[in-house]
Amino acid sequence: MENRGDHSHLQQRKKRRLVLFPQPLQGHINPMLQLASILYHKAGFSITIIHTNFNSPNSSSYPHFSFRSIPDGLSETEASTADLIAFSVLLNVKCVVPFQDCLAELLGGGGDDDDVACLITDANWYFTQAVADSLKLPRIVLCPTSICFFNTVAAPPMQEFYFNVHTDFQFETPVLEIQTRDPENINRFIKNIVKQTKASSGIIWNSFQELEELALTNLKQEFPIPHFLIGPFHKYFPASSSSLLAQDQTSISWLDKQPPKSVIYVSFGSLIGVNETEFQEIAWGLANSKLPFLWVVRPGLVQGTEWLEPLPKNFLEMIDGRGHIVKWAPQQEVLDHSSVGAFWTHCGWNSTLESICEGVPMICGQPCFGDQLVNARYVSDVWRFGLHLEKKLERGEIERAIRRVIREAEGQKMRERIMILKDKMDICLTRGGSSYQSLESLTNYIMSF
Ligand code: UDX
Repeated sequence: MENRGDHSHLQQRKKRRLVLFPQPLQGHINPMLQLASILYHKAGFSITIIHTNFNSPNSSSYPHFSFRSIPDGLSETEASTADLIAFSVLLNVKCVVPFQDCLAELLGGGGDDDDVACLITDANWYFTQAVADSLKLPRIVLCPTSICFFNTVAAPPMQEFYFNVHTDFQFETPVLEIQTRDPENINRFIKNIVKQTKASSGIIWNSFQELEELALTNLKQEFPIPHFLIGPFHKYFPASSSSLLAQDQTSISWLDKQPPKSVIYVSFGSLIGVNETEFQEIAWGLANSKLPFLWVVRPGLVQGTEWLEPLPKNFLEMIDGRGHIVKWAPQQEVLDHSSVGAFWTHCGWNSTLESICEGVPMICGQPCFGDQLVNARYVSDVWRFGLHLEKKLERGEIERAIRRVIREAEGQKMRERIMILKDKMDICLTRGGSSYQSLESLTNYIMSF
């Protein structure tokens, strides 16, 4: 936007500061810091990031932002729990006072001398609406999930989450997995998010209109506040630097040696774990497919193990260089690589969007939870550029799924469908495109506060 040469507007915005507060999880930190960069570089605002001690972002990668750390009070056990809902609820209690103090200090001119225009927080930080209200500061919410998911849980009755899609064909299937997992706790958590998001001044989505128009139309009836679809965030700048783990660059040198569109890239994001049996079925499925694979095995992916100990005996010798295993990959570069033919993903929203942006068809695999289940259904049944592995992980199913997507005509069709969407995405970021315009509206909206 500054390309227009409107320096006086830019100077004006430089005097307006935005305070951003990411939830301290990789899949939430990435979109928030990408958004911060967009609002700084493209819209010209000054940026302060408030963050917890736990999983604090690497401030040296963002020398132009101001960082404020708050104590989250989490014990070691609390910080390492696998129960993400309990973790998020606890943070919403423990951070109230330190966050309020930090924000009040900023508003009182403590340190950064620009005028604070608004607060932007992750939707999961529902407690921040009351803090913003008490300080008379507008709060805008960043929703790091798909609109399709939010629509599924927020628009229909809260007790029963139904997958409710209105497309050229209609179906309503209960998303069983969401219904059965500790429903009371999840219900309370989602109700809080929905209530405090409704009370906010607007929602920013890491999505683009051409992808989620129908879900947005439906959601707007329940949420008559401004919606800004300015994504995909990561396409504004080269590969993001907000990774909490070191990204193994041998992923790229290994991919360089593989034939075009031949490799299955496998990663289940930053949170999910598998048991030992599942891990071995994945390993055998990959080996038996006889196709090259790049597999991200995060330390701790299999609970109670260090790294690769649960691999079948002699596995690495057996695959003889046909596979490459890393702890963490530069995922956006990997998906952009010409050798990658498909992405086996847990369907976290960042991963799903990153795959769409590079036109890579997907295998949507277990294990999944929360929004990932809804995203997986959309990828396989609505947008139809992926296969959904719905049954329990089994080597034969895995092998067949990989071959169907990479080798068979069915996979070719998926690639064609996803490429159409990728082309639309490329246009949405250019001048006059839907995300470009939405960013302009967001900028003007913030300037009106
Ligand atoms: C979580 C939730 O699980 C997800 O469903 C929600 O939508 C956002 O927060 P996570 O499970 O980590 O995130 O998955 P995902 O949303 O896909 O985010 C993972 C991020 O880590 C992506 O941006 C991806 O590029 C990055 N990543 C992943 C790497 O940089 N290297 C890797 O090896 C794997």
